[in-house]
Amino acid sequence: ETAQKSGYKHYMLKEIFEEPSCVAATLSGRIKSAKVHLPEIEELQDLLASSKTLKVVACGTSSYAALSFKYFLENLSDVCVDVEVSSEFRYKRPNFDENTVLVAVSQSGETADTLESVRLAKSKGAKVLAITNVVGSTLMRESDHTLLLNAGPEISVAATKSYVTQLVLLYLLGLKIVELRDQWNERCTKLIDSLLRLPEVLDATLSRAEHIKEVALKYKDFQHFMYIGRGLGYPTALEGALKLKEISYIHATAYPAGELKHGPIALLGPEFPVFAIAPFDALYAKMKNNMIECKARKTKLVVLTSDDCEDVREIADDVLSVNSFSEQLYPVLMAPVIQLFAYYIADALGHDPDKPKNLAKSVTVE
Ligand code: G6P
Repeated sequence: ETAQKSGYKHYMLKEIFEEPSCVAATLSGRIKSAKVHLPEIEELQDLLASSKTLKVVACGTSSYAALSFKYFLENLSDVCVDVEVSSEFRYKRPNFDENTVLVAVSQSGETADTLESVRLAKSKGAKVLAITNVVGSTLMRESDHTLLLNAGPEISVAATKSYVTQLVLLYLLGLKIVELRDQWNERCTKLIDSLLRLPEVLDATLSRAEHIKEVALKYKDFQHFMYIGRGLGYPTALEGALKLKEISYIHATAYPAGELKHGPIALLGPEFPVFAIAPFDALYAKMKNNMIECKARKTKLVVLTSDDCEDVREIADDVLSVNSFSEQLYPVLMAPVIQLFAYYIADALGHDPDKPKNLAKSVTVE
């Protein structure tokens, strides 16, 4: 087993450090002449070019990758992306028809609720596109079309490299849809360029692991954590909180930062630290106001930002940072940081992050 972990203490750590090469594998052959090349979905092109709405179902971490896709695609096109957790979707009135494309995102391709959602959609004539990591999985067999993550097997229960590659593959799909709808512009060309640089920039993020560990260890004894973010930072906040609770058993919750005033801020104080996702992007000024409001409640504040953001150091207790990069791609760059933060806390508390209590790698029963 030690050999399979390639010298890493846990699979989770190994899989986080594999992210740059996994992303390279996900991208491989899928960008040609500065455009996205996805022959697997050729038959869906007309629907993707014309449908006003795209439906997406997933569970757990995959549902946060899906939410990130919603922000990404709605920002670049006129498509409305309707994301729902599979356990809700499957019991709702199926008010869609054969002109609908349902994207089902599942690392394992075996999650029961996601499979039932697919069956429901197919019974109404919808076309199903699977995004999965497992060749020959039930999801792949039952879907009309499949895009594979190519991330290699993920052993640790907590999803890490599958999340990062889901984001990359969903963004590629998003760019393809933008192109099919004739909404391609200069920003998209730039994004293609940035996507190609991702493996190298992710490596740079991972080279900061020691610093992430130092910061994480300062927070291991807190009982609660609140993650906040806006825009694309919000799904990242949700995933950060999920990772922390899954493997360290610390209670963690996540909110869109603008919602703080509608309740959650009542919880904050010296015993309830805040983890803010605040890259120096178009929403930074709004995030800064929220962070100041948190500090006024005497909370400890960890801020995950980008290197071009100087002034956050005035308010943060601890700063974690990633290279200044494409605003739209911060969710990818920030993923290893939230994952490592949770990992180092779980390990320091003596928990096995590969096998968290009460959790399964894939939930195949309802
Ligand atoms: C379980 C796993 C999670 C995963 C979720 C969805 O809860 O512990 O890590 O995100 O299932 O799994 P899927 O294979 O459908 O992506």
